[in-house]
Amino acid sequence: MCIRAYWATYGETHSNKWIERVIRDFYNHERILKEVTESNRDWGGYFVAVEKEKVVGAAGGGMIDEGVGELFVIYVDPARRNEGIGSKLLDSVTKQQKEEYGAKKQWVSVQKGNMKGIPFYESKGFKFQYENVPKEYPTYIKLRHSREI
Ligand SMILES: CC(C)(COP(=O)(O)OP(=O)(O)OC[C@H]1O[C@@H](n2cnc3c(N)ncnc32)[C@H](O)[C@@H]1OP(=O)(O)O)[C@@H](O)C(=O)NCCC(=O)NCCS
Repeated sequence: MCIRAYWATYGETHSNKWIERVIRDFYNHERILKEVTESNRDWGGYFVAVEKEKVVGAAGGGMIDEGVGELFVIYVDPARRNEGIGSKLLDSVTKQQKEEYGAKKQWVSVQKGNMKGIPFYESKGFKFQYENVPKEYPTYIKLRHSREI
């Protein structure tokens, strides 16, 4: 699901080489298996939306500083967007960060131009703070957003 959602999100704006690298690094079976079985302060594990034994959405985050959490990943099956699944996933990650780790603030990174992600974050009260230009891929700018939680 993450692989399909990643292609659907970045297929038009990012090179195939970039997408294939991200998928290889983050969405390989070994890494996902490890990430669904562990949960700690730095990585709270994957929250998944499941319907008839099929994963239709996934999200996860962790603490990056005292009282500060971050949403590291969120995807909803491209055919199931705008049904409220993403909101529930974000709520679950946020609840974990607030209740288990005392988060008062939450960050998220989003690729500049990702109009499938930015409006969602804005509707949840995230505000743009600054942009990050990666040295090795200066065209793929990351926007940092945060909100009080
Ligand atoms: C971002 C994403 C996880 C949101 O999940 P979702 O299930 O579609 O979102 P919801 O149905 O819960 O929508 C929640 C709110 O966001 C708004 N929203 C979501 N996508 C929007 C869009 N493209 N344009 C405008 N508003 C949007 C909805 O109107 C809704 O607002 P409301 O709560 O005020 O009614 C999902 O669309 C997705 O997988 N996008 C592609 C992947 C991606 O960009 N991930 C983020 C990478 S950093």
